[in-house]
Amino acid sequence: KILSLIQCRLILFCSVQVNESNFKQEYPEFVKIVEVGPRDGLQNEKDIVPTRVKIQLIDMLSTTGLSVIEATSFVSSKWVPQMADHTDVLQGIQRVPHVRYPVLTPNMQGFQDAVAAGATEVAVFGSASETFSRKNINCSIAESMLRFEEVISAAKDRQIPVRGYVSCALGCPHEGHIEPTKVAEISKALYDMGCYEISLGDTIGVGTPSSMFKMLQKVMKDVPLSALAVHCHDTYGQALPNILTALQMGVSVVDSAVAGLGGCPYAQGSSGNVSTEDVLYMLHGMGIETGVNLDRLLEAGDFICNALGRRTNSKVAQARSGTL
Ligand code: HMG
Ligand code: MG
Repeated sequence: KILSLIQCRLILFCSVQVNESNFKQEYPEFVKIVEVGPRDGLQNEKDIVPTRVKIQLIDMLSTTGLSVIEATSFVSSKWVPQMADHTDVLQGIQRVPHVRYPVLTPNMQGFQDAVAAGATEVAVFGSASETFSRKNINCSIAESMLRFEEVISAAKDRQIPVRGYVSCALGCPHEGHIEPTKVAEISKALYDMGCYEISLGDTIGVGTPSSMFKMLQKVMKDVPLSALAVHCHDTYGQALPNILTALQMGVSVVDSAVAGLGGCPYAQGSSGNVSTEDVLYMLHGMGIETGVNLDRLLEAGDFICNALGRRTNSKVAQARSGTL
């Protein structure tokens, strides 16, 4: 008995021992950050944020080294009044070479308006939950797929890349648990239609490393790992561990929002996205490159929080400004 106890402790000790060199090997060397603050971060703000503030935020983000900044949404202004100035925002920003500025387009009307405004990349957004699909974009999952097919085909004709979102990948505000097989099915459908990247959204931030693991395990069977991204809201404070789990599984694209702004107007209880500052701090601390300058990102976070009269949701920003 004593011998087996010693053996047991030995195994436990060996499995948790981590040193710098084998720690890093488990993770991608480079992670692409998709900054969604100007869109996901601001879409839920009650008071209309002035267009010039949105433009200045994007312009500041453009100097941080980010390669993708989701700029706005071409959705109905009756549904999301905050995004009504989409054309002015897209046309007002100073585009920096090598930075991409995708916009959300739920249907052909959104796509055509986006193209007319000068969009060079778009994103369609579906859901793994039937109820959420109806509440968010006013149609069933099946109908949404037909709409996305049209958008993706029109985008292909113009050589416009399309990103695809799958909301409620780890849970739905209305249906609760969502089967990973459903997430895999929608992800595969969007990928097969031509989306170059599938962003798996924990829309209401209810996932844990365990549900993230189970969901990714299924999705990875149908969509190449290199085409997967994770999009974590931080409602239950699980975003960073969930992202870490995804990185351990080989995912190398992470969505996040400056200052941890955000929420979805059609997902009650959903709080902000994981903050870009916190994701950068974790990744850089692990020796993973992002190409993004944390100090500049913090400046953009300060700017938008001052403009909104809001305390940042980023722990890193709070720590740096001594307001923890
Ligand atoms: P609908 O009312 O079903 O559309 O809206 P419709 O085709 O029946 O048309 C009705 C009216 O809407 C018409 O105008 C259309 O012209 C207009 P009317 O004749 O009544 O004056 N319309 C539009 N106007 C502007 N832009 C358009 C557009 N399409 C139709 N593209 C629609 C359908 C999808 C437009 C609507 O439901 C909508 O705008 N929903 C908003 C969805 C949204 O923005 N949600 C938040 C983003 S998703 C998210 O945050 C999750 C994510 O972050 C990932 C995650 O966290 O999981 C991506
Ligand atoms: Mg979101």
